[in-house]
Amino acid sequence: VESVLDSARSVRQYAYAPYSGFRVGAAVLDAAGRITAGTNVENASYGLTLCAERAALAAARAGGAERILLVAIAADTAEPITPCGACRQWIAELAPHALIAMLTLEGSERWCTPNDLLPHAFGGSMFRTTT
Ligand code: THU
Repeated sequence: VESVLDSARSVRQYAYAPYSGFRVGAAVLDAAGRITAGTNVENASYGLTLCAERAALAAARAGGAERILLVAIAADTAEPITPCGACRQWIAELAPHALIAMLTLEGSERWCTPNDLLPHAFGGSMFRTTT
């Protein structure tokens, strides 16, 4: 677990955040023991920015991850940051049984579940229509 938390903190060095200057790192541990990291990747067209959490989840999936056990998120803030709404939806889809760890560089940690972040999440099981 400590390696996952360290990975989320250290991958921040590769963040592409020229517009906000706010570097975020995320790391995912899957059931095969793999750790996959991601950073935020900004764009001159600001709305196209990719958050670290989604970058890490997509890379983990591409690396073969099926069951994600832990998602760690790190930023250089006084209190741990929480994932944005879009990332909560991604976590609900790809890491529904994971624990979420939110971290600062100075050692503050906050832990929660996907359901804590996004209760009543929309999901694929809701697709059935009445017509
Ligand atoms: N950001 C993340 O990568 N993850 C979060 O949980 C919150 C926000 C990024 C997006 C953008 O590049 C910068 O932080 C400022 O919003």
